Amino acid sequence: MSLQLGDIAPDFEAETTHGLIRFHDWKEGSWVVFFSHPKDFTPVCTTELGYTASLGDEFKARNVKAIAVSVDDVSDHNSWIGDIEETQSTTVNFPIIGDPERKVASLYQMIHPQANDTLTVRSVFIIDTNNKIRLTLTYPASTGRNFDEILRVIDSMQLTDSNKVATPVNWKQGDDVIISPSLSNDEAAELFPEGWDEVRPYLRVTKHP
Ligand code: BEZ
Repeated sequence: MSLQLGDIAPDFEAETTHGLIRFHDWKEGSWVVFFSHPKDFTPVCTTELGYTASLGDEFKARNVKAIAVSVDDVSDHNSWIGDIEETQSTTVNFPIIGDPERKVASLYQMIHPQANDTLTVRSVFIIDTNNKIRLTLTYPASTGRNFDEILRVIDSMQLTDSNKVATPVNWKQGDDVIISPSLSNDEAAELFPEGWDEVRPYLRVTKHP
């Protein structure tokens, strides 16, 4: 059975470029973007890890930690980090897990044998402060992911966790939001005194709270 939204993210202990970590202890109190990349010293992965590093301040502002994994070992990761920093003009400030025995990759089902029986696919798990899996993504090796989209989803989840709203197609921080369909108009009037645009009774658009 695959890991599903709402499941507790499995805990593990692993060697990383920042030393030995116990995952739940390391993430304590933070959101986490946990992502796999197929292989060190490969072009797409180099751009992905570089871009993720460049988002460090954005992650920090949202109480998010990044952590990567591949089936290479920590000494390979450490050699490759120099290339990432030089070619992508950044500093890799998050840990990369060494997983040559594929223990973590197997735990998170990041190896899809019909795609490749040894390397990880490009998986993303967004995990909240309660260790719950809130989003999963799986991309093929040849397609780099959009980490701006990952930030956008985190913005939506953090907003909708603390307000009775949902976010519409292509929403981004600051845009109008949708009042939760579970709220009656009377309840909505209490929470959204500035009102809303009732496009349909089930589609009520209001300002970003
Ligand atoms: C890459 O990161 O460029 C890559 C890795 C594995 C297979 C194909 C591309």
